[in-house]
Amino acid sequence: MKRVDDFRLRFGKQELVPIMIGGMGVDISSAELSLEAARLGGIGHISDAMLPTVADRRYDTDFVKTKLTQYKYNLDNSDKSGIKFDLGQVAESTRLHVSKTMEAKRGSGMIFLNVMEKLTMNAPKETLKVRLDSALSAGIDGITLAAGLHLGSFAMMEDHPRFRDAKLGIIVSSLRALQLFLRKNSRSNRLPDYIVVEGPLAGGHLGFGMDWAEYDLRTITQEVMAYLKAEKLDIPVIPAGGIFTGSDATGFLEMGAAAVQVATRFTVAKECGLPGDVQQEYFKASESDIEVNGVSPTGYPMRMLKHSPAIGSGIRPGCESYGYILDANGKCSYIDSYNREVALHPDEKKVQVFDKTCLCTHMRNFKLWTCGHYTYRLKDTTHKLADGSYQVLSAEHVFKDYQFSTDNKIALPE
Ligand SMILES: Cc1cc2nc3c(=O)[nH]c(=O)nc-3n(C[C@H](O)[C@H](O)[C@H](O)COP(=O)(O)O)c2cc1C
Repeated sequence: MKRVDDFRLRFGKQELVPIMIGGMGVDISSAELSLEAARLGGIGHISDAMLPTVADRRYDTDFVKTKLTQYKYNLDNSDKSGIKFDLGQVAESTRLHVSKTMEAKRGSGMIFLNVMEKLTMNAPKETLKVRLDSALSAGIDGITLAAGLHLGSFAMMEDHPRFRDAKLGIIVSSLRALQLFLRKNSRSNRLPDYIVVEGPLAGGHLGFGMDWAEYDLRTITQEVMAYLKAEKLDIPVIPAGGIFTGSDATGFLEMGAAAVQVATRFTVAKECGLPGDVQQEYFKASESDIEVNGVSPTGYPMRMLKHSPAIGSGIRPGCESYGYILDANGKCSYIDSYNREVALHPDEKKVQVFDKTCLCTHMRNFKLWTCGHYTYRLKDTTHKLADGSYQVLSAEHVFKDYQFSTDNKIALPE
């Protein structure tokens, strides 16, 4: 019987264990988690979401304080169009996080950066270019273009000396999205090095509408692989979303996938960026605690625990400190929802906002518990301790369970 370890992901001459830990925004897929994946011969991701605040927490910088000081005068103004990121600071925070992570890398694996186009930062093109260029300059092994269509992102990197040497991949959720990307991108004369096909059971934002349950990863993966074969395009395909056991992964590899991208199983690893009390919420979750809803102001459906503190929270928009979702005109749909509730309840000190959430502040503070569909199975991957809590795992344990297990078995920790 085959297992994941019988397969290898090949990039030219380089051979990797075909397990990629997906990017998980605002430092959930931490440097420590990505370093473990690389040490064990696979691929890990760090995320480029909100790097100035991540850098402040990790490297003792004060990017957020500097921005807030500059824009404090605007806190009570609902027009946020004047709040701009300092591109030098965006570059510096990316350089810090990427270079410090890459310096610590050991082993034969790789570390990629998950880059979300939907973080429009009130200047979508300028900020994205700085993030991409700085990551390449700081030595990242590869970049995975996520959340957004990224039709112009390759062109943005074209003039960078590492454009052809770094691995560049895209995440798509349909064959149509892939075709659109390839058509728009043909001018750059550079194909993606890998394609992550993310199905509807993934965590984070989904590339589907609220009819997500009508799609399935296996079908989309097969469609993408058949298309690439017909076009004679030899690009590794990496399915993601709901691959929970080593046997699930092996099934995709036997089908012709080059690797798998997984995330949910690692949310309860000690190297993951989620605080311990939040990890216990993930362990405890039952299927009915998980929903896909429309509270993210990005406009994409997002999967999360229903009792995330972010849902219903009516905090003042945090754009003067953060402002990552502000579009090219300085707008974010949470600001409109918040203003509506304030106008409806003029005498209340604290309003509640249910239709949208302040994504920046809540993701930054781990109050929005985004998760994969199979989060309710995490309790079966560990031991329940005498005090009723669940034993947190090591990333190595979870990685090796994917790599070596057979028969749909999940190895419990020592
Ligand atoms: C907590 C969490 C946060 C995530 N955040 C992001 C993200 O910021 N960007 C992204 O492209 N994908 C994100 N994802 C999706 C994962 O990278 C991955 O593709 C997917 O969850 C794999 O499915 P699985 O969780 O069922 O293994 C997130 C997933 C989880 C569980």
